[in-house]
Amino acid sequence: MTKLRVAIAGAGIGRQHAAAFRQLPERFDLVAICDLSADRRDALARDFSIARTAASFEEVLAYEDVDVVDICTPQSLHFAQALAALAAGKHVICEKPVVGSLAECDALAAAAGDARRHVMPIFNYRFGVGLQKLLRLIGRGVTGKHYLTTAETTWRRGPAYFAVAWRGSRAQAMGGCLLTQAIHAHDAVTLALGPVRSVYGAIATRVNPVETEDCAAATLTFADGSLASLAVTLGSADDTSRLRFHFEHLTAASSLAPYTMTAEPWTWLPASDAAAQRIAEALADFEPRREGFAGQFERFHDAMAAGAPPPVTLADARTSLELLTALYHSAATGSRVDLPIAATHPAYRGWL
Ligand SMILES: NC(=O)c1ccc[n+]([C@@H]2O[C@H](COP(=O)([O-])OP(=O)(O)OC[C@H]3O[C@@H](n4cnc5c(N)ncnc54)[C@H](O)[C@@H]3O)[C@@H](O)[C@H]2O)c1
Repeated sequence: MTKLRVAIAGAGIGRQHAAAFRQLPERFDLVAICDLSADRRDALARDFSIARTAASFEEVLAYEDVDVVDICTPQSLHFAQALAALAAGKHVICEKPVVGSLAECDALAAAAGDARRHVMPIFNYRFGVGLQKLLRLIGRGVTGKHYLTTAETTWRRGPAYFAVAWRGSRAQAMGGCLLTQAIHAHDAVTLALGPVRSVYGAIATRVNPVETEDCAAATLTFADGSLASLAVTLGSADDTSRLRFHFEHLTAASSLAPYTMTAEPWTWLPASDAAAQRIAEALADFEPRREGFAGQFERFHDAMAAGAPPPVTLADARTSLELLTALYHSAATGSRVDLPIAATHPAYRGWL
């Protein structure tokens, strides 16, 4: 397949996207960068030798040679911008959270179907080699029954982080640490363990003078009756992430690296010699692939070339949004929330 021509909108995390596209020169041409801030777009255009800069999102949509618009703007803009890009005939890559409710996610999926274009939500942590190995072990039935998993996202975010005004605003950020920081760890948990049956969630704002939560705790019960415990704070003295999966035949623990905990090194603790052997056999021909943003973009190009769905779909993002909806609703009502969340549920149109 020919190269895909990409325009990035938003030069914050968009800078890391640009670096990832640059690692894949045989698959992507980065042809334009858009940001409201002239300083930010010019700096990114200079650093990555991007020919065109645009001061508005609409300008980018008018570029006929752009195949893919990569939306890296603040989250409250994603839904409208993704709809506009589809209407302009572009494929869409969109940062997390792709939209702010299940209703918006369903509307976006319908719009993508009508436009015959793809929307790929970003879940860059999915492609870490440690997590990919765990997915293989689960898929091959090597792990046995799942008992319990813990996911900790304990990072430090203070005044400098919240100096960017949208981040602490309920209306603009649409949520706090559950939505913005811990979404990746929680996506890794549900990706590995499957459908959630019910949740209890609690949130608090204790670290920063902001409108959004900066501490959260939750209990998940999966469809098979097994459990997970989620813990999140932006008030840790350091930045640490940790996933620990406990199965009948294996305990698998991620590294503590805050932003790359799904990458190796992971610790694999088999429950018996026989399990150790089955794990070694299942991983014997495992071929590590590219990780992070570049790993997701590389797979995206491969999927487009094969006429296949993108490596992360709106259905995947919907699972993450459904968990968020349930957690926020549980925290607001002090009650257990059962999944799936129906279109008649009071939080289907948003948790705010
Ligand atoms: N996947 C990840 O690991 C990861 C990491 C950080 C942020 N994010 C997500 O990326 C998104 C952006 O976050 P950020 O931290 O980079 O924010 P940011 O505020 O640092 O950067 C956003 C940029 O978008 C620009 N912008 C705002 N409105 C715009 C518009 N209408 N058109 C064009 N540009 C516009 C701003 O000027 C700013 O430069 C958020 O959704 C966030 O949750 C994802």
